[in-house]
Amino acid sequence: MLKVTNLTKIFGGLRAVDNASLEVGEGRIVALIGPNGAGKTTLFACIAGFLPINQGRVEFLGQDITGLPVHDIARRGMVRTFQITQPFAKLTVLENIAVGSHQLHARRSDALAHARTVAERVGIPASMLDQPAAELTVAGRKRLELARTLATEPKLLLLDEVMAGLNPQEILDIIGIVRQIRDSGVSILLIEHVMHAVMTLSEHIYVLSYGKIIAEGAPLAIVNNRDVVEAYLGRGAADQMADMATTGGGHA
Ligand SMILES: Nc1ncnc2c1ncn2[C@@H]1O[C@H](COP(=O)(O)OP(=O)(O)OP(=O)(O)O)[C@@H](O)[C@H]1O
Ligand SMILES: [Mg+2]
Repeated sequence: MLKVTNLTKIFGGLRAVDNASLEVGEGRIVALIGPNGAGKTTLFACIAGFLPINQGRVEFLGQDITGLPVHDIARRGMVRTFQITQPFAKLTVLENIAVGSHQLHARRSDALAHARTVAERVGIPASMLDQPAAELTVAGRKRLELARTLATEPKLLLLDEVMAGLNPQEILDIIGIVRQIRDSGVSILLIEHVMHAVMTLSEHIYVLSYGKIIAEGAPLAIVNNRDVVEAYLGRGAADQMADMATTGGGHA
C-alpha cells in the first residue's frame, strides 16, 4: 500500500535521509527504528508531504504521490502523528478530534458525533471530552494525537513515538489500542523507541541509521542481528531485546 523508493532528504550538508526504501503492505504493522537523529521523523515528514524531497519516489495505493501537498495525501488516506504534539490548547478534547472529523463530516453536529466514536476507539473517557486540551496529561495528549489523526479515517497511519513518556501501564494500553486500530482495517507504520512495543506489535522492522536503512526483517531476525542492535541501539540492547523475546514480549 505504501512504497518508498530511494528517498533522499538533504538539510544543508546533512543527508538526513539517504536513499531509503521501504514498504508497508495492506493490514500490516511495520516499525521504523533507529537511534536519535537517525532521520526517522524526517522520513515520515517526507512521506506524508510535509517536506519536499531531493530524490526518490513515494507510491501510495499504487499511485505516485511524490511531491503532493499534505492535504491531498491525507485525503487519499495517509496521515501522520507528530512526535511533539500540538493540540489546539483552548479547544476542548472533543473539538480537537472533531477538527479531523470535519474532513468527512461537513456539519458540525455530525463531526462532533463522529469525534465521540473516535475518542472511544482510543480510550479517551467521555468525562474528559469537554476539558480544554491544554489540561491533558502526557498520556492524554498521546491519545488525543492518535484520535485526531484517526478521525480523518485513514487507510495508513504513520505513528511517531506515540508511547514516548508513558508509564508501563499506559504503554500496554496504547499497544492494545494500536492493535485494535490495525484490526479495524488501518495499516500502520510506526516509529518507536519502546522496544518491547516494537517487538510485540510489528511484523516487519526497518532499522535506520544516519539516514540509511541498514537492516530490515522480522522482529526476531532484527533481535538476533547483534551488530545492528549493538551498533544502533546501544551496548547491552541486544541482551535486553533477546530477554524480551524469550519472556513473551511477543504476546504482551
Ligand atoms: N528542519 C530541519 N533542518 C535541519 N536539520 C534538520 C531538520 N529536521 C531534522 N534535522 C536533522 O536531521 C537529522 C534527523 O532528524 P530526525 O528528527 O528525523 O531524527 P529522528 O530519527 O526522528 O530522531 P529522534 O529519535 O530523536 O526523534 C538530525 O540530525 C536533525 O538534527
Ligand atoms: Mg523523531
